[in-house]
Amino acid sequence: MSKIKYQSLTGMHDVLPEDQVYFKRIQKVVESVSNSYTFEKIETPILEFAEVFQKAVGDDTDIVGKEMYTFRTKGGDMVALRPEGTAAVMRSYLEHGMHNLPQPVKLWYIGPFFRYERPQAGRFRQFHQFGFEAIGDASPSIDSQIIQMSYDVLKELGFKNLTIEVNSIGDSECRPYFKKILTSYFKSRRSSLCSDCQRRLKENPLRILDCKEEKCQRVKAGAPQIIDHLCEKCHAHFKEVLEFLDELELPYTLNPYLVRGLDYYTKTVFEIIETSEDGKNLGTLSGGGRYDNLSKILGGRDTPACGSASGMERILSLMKTREMKTGPKQEEAKIFLAQLGQLAKRKSMKLFEEFRAAKIPVAESFSKDSLKAQLRTANKLNIRWVLIFGQKEALEDFITLRDMDTGTQKEIKLNKVVEEMKNKIKK
Ligand code: HAM
Repeated sequence: MSKIKYQSLTGMHDVLPEDQVYFKRIQKVVESVSNSYTFEKIETPILEFAEVFQKAVGDDTDIVGKEMYTFRTKGGDMVALRPEGTAAVMRSYLEHGMHNLPQPVKLWYIGPFFRYERPQAGRFRQFHQFGFEAIGDASPSIDSQIIQMSYDVLKELGFKNLTIEVNSIGDSECRPYFKKILTSYFKSRRSSLCSDCQRRLKENPLRILDCKEEKCQRVKAGAPQIIDHLCEKCHAHFKEVLEFLDELELPYTLNPYLVRGLDYYTKTVFEIIETSEDGKNLGTLSGGGRYDNLSKILGGRDTPACGSASGMERILSLMKTREMKTGPKQEEAKIFLAQLGQLAKRKSMKLFEEFRAAKIPVAESFSKDSLKAQLRTANKLNIRWVLIFGQKEALEDFITLRDMDTGTQKEIKLNKVVEEMKNKIKK
């Protein structure tokens, strides 16, 4: 076979019809959990000013520094394909003066995001996330609610061995002090770090804790833990979050080195991972945390907030390999409408529309003219009832119903056909 000329871009893929059932199922569960917790849906544009993400997520993060799709528009604006949702949702909250609404404003979203990542299993350049953001409330109960919701969705989809890793990364009061302690720890082990982390040591030593390189992981294992250096406020907040998680009986573990790679986080951070029976980490499905400074970073007033997002491709591929429940497929037609001749074809189209209005799915093959070919299609689709609209039928306003199982035929008046077929397929 000769090679086709065009293929989708590396890291970008089509969501084919067979995968739509999984997307639909995820969306349905997310929507139902959101409704229960009174989160409302929001959609932000796919393009934003690049600065929104540069400021919010941070210029020196991988997401912005290495992976963001940016370009200048014809009008001269520097814009970016959104790499994540939180900054855009906060931009929208500020732009629409949502601080005037009862707080917290609880929002959820679902849609495509873009990161120019190195292609690898489960990571795409266009991928989908669903997310929850609760803006305008500093209470630890919000952190636990966000964790509970993210967990609920995965549980309801059928995931079994889930673990919630939590940590607190402090705030602007205690984090700078901890950074100093961490810097001096890593400085004395500089030569054992990868070259990226040697650079991170200058810019943001917390990022070293996020590095996946084995040599850095080894150094990390002995690093000081931020949890021992939280200020009183952050300590009390974190303690309360954990108490809520205990009360909710959520399966969490403390991961003192979890920092998450985005600049806007403060206090609680968490990830939900799937584990094997023997407790091995099989990958992250959801991630999130508190971002109390983001509003100010984007020029708004002090507004505490917390949220999470989950990647849909990974969830979908696991659902597929494990044959998890997807919900009903599109209802299959039990009736086939065949036609012969121009007048019958026109009238069939009208009849088809009447069936649609009555919510009765009907298969057709209007582009085919031969009756034999149409009956063959009906056979392939395994449809028992075929309505034949021929020239005589079209002139005399009746239709012939053929039972493909028995080969018997009968005539039905055109104005009775929808009602009669409704009863037939009910049986
Ligand atoms: P994130 O950890 O960058 O957080 O992404 C959340 C999830 O999106 C990841 O756990 C992963 O499942 C999925 N994901 C990220 N990048 C890719 C990719 N290239 N291909 C496939 N899946 C991917 C955020 O985006 C934050 N906005 C989460 C948040 C919301 N924090 C507070 N509110």
